[in-house]
Amino acid sequence: MSVQPQVVSLEGIEKSKQLAAWSAVDNHVLPEHKIIGIGSGSTVPYVVERILTQGSSVNKDRIFIPTGFQSRQLIISAQLTLGDVSQYPVLDVTIDGADEVDHDLNSIKGGGACQLQEKVLAEAAKTWVMVADYRKNSEVLGTKWKQGIPIEVVPFAYVGVLRRLDSIGSPTAGLRMAKMKAGPVVTDNGNFIIDAPFPEAQMKEPAKLLTELKLITGVVEVGLFCNMAKAAYFGNEDGSVTVK
Ligand code: 5RP
Repeated sequence: MSVQPQVVSLEGIEKSKQLAAWSAVDNHVLPEHKIIGIGSGSTVPYVVERILTQGSSVNKDRIFIPTGFQSRQLIISAQLTLGDVSQYPVLDVTIDGADEVDHDLNSIKGGGACQLQEKVLAEAAKTWVMVADYRKNSEVLGTKWKQGIPIEVVPFAYVGVLRRLDSIGSPTAGLRMAKMKAGPVVTDNGNFIIDAPFPEAQMKEPAKLLTELKLITGVVEVGLFCNMAKAAYFGNEDGSVTVK
């Protein structure tokens, strides 16, 4: 029996991202919101696109806080006012992408290596909402995002962290390399990323696994976001939006 490769329409996926982003903005970015967190990834430009349609009279009184270099550039090029989370430690709302979201709104993030600043902005926000295309909607984490949990580590400690990850269930964890294997990926904070796959039994209890990972010396932040989200929006190819 021959297996046909699945043809995924890129246009369809882009449309799904846009649907999710627009729907989340319409429901969660209210005119009275003044301090707004902007996440990272390829779905977030559609968040900014939708915010711009709320009009310059609303947006001129707002401050936008980025989760990294990419969203900083996005805010600047949209001619919105850029702020810093140390200046504005309480955000009205943050909207961010996700690599996979489970039935309980726990998620894997950090596919773009931004999870430290993303988590700071998620925690700082009164409302934190995720936006993604339908491929990220899952029951159990690790079912769809198979690369493993992105873990930001201090460069000096990465070998020790890999050894520890091996001993707690992730023998295939590896340092994320830059394109063309030119060297390790370096985050906006000057750290390395380890991608650590874990067996399903451990992924079914993400909060427990998160606690265990954060106790490893040299780990700066873990791309598991547990019990933080108010909602997740997934755009579907048929034009509908699934909200969890
Ligand atoms: C970056 C992230 C992104 O939000 C995540 O990778 C989703 O990106 P995209 O919208 O391109 O699928 O966590 O660190």
